[in-house]
Amino acid sequence: MELINLLLEIKDNIAVVTVNRPDKLNALNKDTVLELRSVFKELRSNDNIFVIILTGSGEKAFVAGADIKELNQLDVLSAKKFSERGQEVFNYIENMNKPVIAVVNGFALGGGCELALACHIRLASENAKFGQPEVNLGIIPGYGGTQRLARLINSGRAMEYILTGDMIDANEAFRLGLVNHVYPQSELLTKAMEMAQKIVSKGQQAIRFAIKAVNVVDQVSAKEGQNYEASLFALCCGTEDFKEGTSAFLEKRKPDFKNK
Ligand code: COA
Repeated sequence: MELINLLLEIKDNIAVVTVNRPDKLNALNKDTVLELRSVFKELRSNDNIFVIILTGSGEKAFVAGADIKELNQLDVLSAKKFSERGQEVFNYIENMNKPVIAVVNGFALGGGCELALACHIRLASENAKFGQPEVNLGIIPGYGGTQRLARLINSGRAMEYILTGDMIDANEAFRLGLVNHVYPQSELLTKAMEMAQKIVSKGQQAIRFAIKAVNVVDQVSAKEGQNYEASLFALCCGTEDFKEGTSAFLEKRKPDFKNK
């Protein structure tokens, strides 16, 4: 696959996907959204990839939103398609069969904030700034932001940020639970790689089942969620990884997971 707006690096079971339009602060034009879809589809079926890191090029922006030049051309019909396409790609990322870590190295605004919200874990640099400034443009978030932000930081807080368009700095994002950790810019990628390597060292069957279980939390009742958890827990116990993990503990050695 030829990548124009993304960079893809693969090393030791970890893929680093970088949105690469630094002169436009990595704004998501249509082609970039379609490339994201292609690259995540490819990574999904690549059994050698266990963890994906998603970041932006340069030191200023993760993604500064949807491309406003393209937004400016939308009418009612094309806007519906635009929103649905972005939602579909971001849902695909959220439902990936391997963890996706957003490495937010600067502005994560509009579609950029929504992209980070669709990832499983968010790490931010000290200069990161989140926000849903769409009201400044006469629109609302259209890539899932009204829903995911409200679920993550509660609807009252999300409502404030969506109605004012105010930016959220990294420390406030941490306080709100919007990001898991904040690091100096120079350490951010290293810290993300350390987290990714830690996840790579686990049994990957369990990692996949864990993502599935946590991901249904907003979609089903507590009872249904627990039933689903029990089913996935049971499936874990049918894997070689389970035998290896528990045996290694009892034999006081490190597990050698085959991810089967
Ligand atoms: N879409 C298209 N182009 C964008 C963009 C976006 N979302 N965000 C930034 N850019 C472009 C700018 O137009 C500029 O391009 P140019 O050099 O060809 O004029 C370039 O990226 C650099 O941005 P600039 O505004 O000069 O940087 P800044 O440091 O002064 O401001 C921001 C940074 C992020 C505050 C500002 O770019 C901004 O507000 N961007 C839009 C954010 C937004 O509303 N996102 C939601 C869209 S739904």
